[in-house]
Amino acid sequence: MRNYIGHWPTKRIDRRTLLLAAGAAFASAHVGRADEPSETSLRQRAEKKGLVFGTQVNAGPLFSLKPYQDAVLRDASMIVPENEMKWRPTHPTALQSNYFNANRIAKFAEDNKLLLRGHTAVWHQNPPAWTNDIIASDDGQKLVLEHARELINHFSGHVMEWDVVNEAIAPEDGMPGNLRNWAPYNKGGIDFIADCFYAAREADPKANLYYNDFSVYYRSQGHRRDAILGFLEKLKSKGAPIDGFGIQSHLIAKAEFDENIYRHFLSEIADLGLKIRATELDVSDVRLEPDINLRDTIVAAHTKQYLDVLFDEPAVVGLVTWGMTDRFSWLHEGWPRKDRLRQRCLPLDDNFTRKPMWHAIANAFDHAPSR
Ligand code: XIL
Repeated sequence: MRNYIGHWPTKRIDRRTLLLAAGAAFASAHVGRADEPSETSLRQRAEKKGLVFGTQVNAGPLFSLKPYQDAVLRDASMIVPENEMKWRPTHPTALQSNYFNANRIAKFAEDNKLLLRGHTAVWHQNPPAWTNDIIASDDGQKLVLEHARELINHFSGHVMEWDVVNEAIAPEDGMPGNLRNWAPYNKGGIDFIADCFYAAREADPKANLYYNDFSVYYRSQGHRRDAILGFLEKLKSKGAPIDGFGIQSHLIAKAEFDENIYRHFLSEIADLGLKIRATELDVSDVRLEPDINLRDTIVAAHTKQYLDVLFDEPAVVGLVTWGMTDRFSWLHEGWPRKDRLRQRCLPLDDNFTRKPMWHAIANAFDHAPSR
């Protein structure tokens, strides 16, 4: 606001305009702005409570767009690559692996003393085309395990925490143990998933090992909560080396969030001796009217309501957002609004300016109990 006022030709400003502008400048200074370095960052607020704030990064903008990189460095103390460590990009053909972008991100983390999450070794959605026939055959489990071993070993000593297995639970598929209908799970069952965790532990004994999944937040998602809880219980009882549960947290503004149900679910996960991290927070505004102020307000309120409950649970170790800026979100393609307007789903707007969602996260950290 300050710069903008500075560019107005002074002779055209009447008293009323000046007063309005001064009021707006005060209001924006009051809530804090992205260009004010003195405003306490999310990472500082999180650290103060013994929590960690992180964000997903994409190598494209990270290494070509300075304000994007600055935004990451300003607020995050942990990063996770959006796609760069997934199977397809890291092993495009049977004979060739390619860690170029994943390595760049790992080096960026190291150079800037950021914690690095690994995402993800075993995920039904991302095997490269050359693996299709093998995965469907009796050699499928072996191939998936080899991949997990190679990937995790490659980054051994650099990744603090791996999403070893991602999205393995799909009650709607009707398979035993609520496992997703995917050949390696169909053939190996939960023992195969335990083997993935054993392989990961062997490949990097120091990394924390997580199971990561979605849609456990809302009232209507009880069947998924029960299925995931049952699955994690079984995995633990088999002795699988699992340290934590990653809750993706792709939220939907206006969906029915029941604080008590969620609190109880988090405490049940904690009772299993697992750490909890929200790993992919964004808030879809597809159900909201187009008005930007309204969308920002509702998205921020939803974020705050969710995080307050999350941070109350002592087993929760931190929060990662699935991007920092609305300019780059998978939701624009993955889940577009009917009116084709850009979703306002992340803490910063297209120009890297803080939105009410940023302040909601800041506020939730400020009110979180200390660890
Ligand atoms: C998404 C990426 O953001 C997209 O760019 C890609 O096309 C598909 O995957 N759950 C996950 C993430 O675990 O890996 C997904 O990321 C989003 C949903």
